[in-house]
Amino acid sequence: MARSKPTPLKTLLDSPRVREAARALIEAVHEETQERELAPKAYDRALREVARMRGRPLFHPAIASGYGQGARVRLANGHTLLDFASGIGTYGFGHGDPGLLEAAVVAAAGDTVFQGHLLPGVEYHRLSRALLRHAGPHLKHVWLSVSGADANENALKMIYQKHAPAEKIIAFERAFAGRTIAMAEITDKPAFRKGLPLRGSTLYVPFFDPNDPESISKSLAALDAHLSRYPGQVAGMLFELVQGEGGFHTAPTEFFAALMNRCREANVSVWVDEVQTFARTGELFAFKTFGLEELVDVVTLGKTLQGSAVLFRRELNPKPGLVAGTFAGSTVGMAVGAAILDRLENDGYLGRDGRIAVLGRRVERRLESLRRRMPRAVGPRSGVGAMQAFVPFDGSTEVVTTILKAAFEEGLLAHSAGSNPTKIRFLLPVNTTDEELETGFTMLEKAMRRVGEDCGLPC
Ligand SMILES: Cc1ncc(COP(=O)(O)O)c(C=O)c1O
Repeated sequence: MARSKPTPLKTLLDSPRVREAARALIEAVHEETQERELAPKAYDRALREVARMRGRPLFHPAIASGYGQGARVRLANGHTLLDFASGIGTYGFGHGDPGLLEAAVVAAAGDTVFQGHLLPGVEYHRLSRALLRHAGPHLKHVWLSVSGADANENALKMIYQKHAPAEKIIAFERAFAGRTIAMAEITDKPAFRKGLPLRGSTLYVPFFDPNDPESISKSLAALDAHLSRYPGQVAGMLFELVQGEGGFHTAPTEFFAALMNRCREANVSVWVDEVQTFARTGELFAFKTFGLEELVDVVTLGKTLQGSAVLFRRELNPKPGLVAGTFAGSTVGMAVGAAILDRLENDGYLGRDGRIAVLGRRVERRLESLRRRMPRAVGPRSGVGAMQAFVPFDGSTEVVTTILKAAFEEGLLAHSAGSNPTKIRFLLPVNTTDEELETGFTMLEKAMRRVGEDCGLPC
């Protein structure tokens, strides 16, 4: 029987000699890292220097040492933190994951540090193939890039070219799409585009409101109003199936399906931004978790992928010249991205009872139990799987910031999302253990009780 040929990268990781050498290097680096802790004064100086160079301090005064294990990361001063923010979603498997580090070390010892679209390497091939295999039959093509905003820019260009000269884009209220000028305009947050020239091409539709039984028909009516006010001028609609920066809001499938179907009837491309949701909702793609495979035209990925990509239907394949760019990604990023896809698929992370879904249910239970102990301090929860958030106390930005700082002092790194109310957000490593969850929630509770006492907020 003919055996399928292993890809060159797999061959390298399968070589005992290469693997052993990779492990030896990783071990040597970890040992040395631990011996190079900064003394308190040197660490404070490094933090001040970083702040001066950036023009502003870090949100949390933390510089990582280069050593970590699971959700725990060691700082350059030797302190250890539990990281429930994952670098706003970047460290999908937490810190120091041995398998991913081996993939990284092998890729780093290859030919080049970065790869371009002119002469891609085997990692590019392997990652592209894996993404398309998982994406299903409709998304025929993939274009790799570096940041989530790059992928979104490419998606937007493809959509505009297909629908030219239509120049309007519809997005949800509270949408977030990235930091380029075009994405800052689509993003529904005035502070993120203050001072930028705007083209006035974005139209907004209200997101799902779980407290309003008429929510679906209201959002459909808003979409219809835009479509009839600007006939033939709307090119695409952007969907975040779990709004990330906007506050971890989500909606039932019927809501998304109703709006997507209306877009398709009106020849408006359905663009799903999965930069934050990728590999966090229980399936690789949130559009699969929500059962929307048939309705999606363009999908963008980032963060956990360790690079970014846009996947698109054949009709959106742009003419030569529209989409290019020097870098497709770093060799390490692409190799680790492909290894992450393997792990998610083969180590039981996906599906209704997969590890991501189970993690989500555990966080829900822990928040529920925290709410029973602190009923006035823990408000509504939102999110799916490994992206979870809740409203603490009154949901004011000041209180959330104070809690995040207090949690940091306890040893827990978390982040915020949304406004009115502002939430505490957890972008957990998908391999977070029960012990890590328990320790993290104990730290959170201590921090919240302390803030409650200091600010006179009853718990
Ligand atoms: C939904 C969404 N889209 C796009 C982006 C932009 O990605 P990047 O910061 O990698 O450019 C982000 C980043 O937070 C995001 O959450």
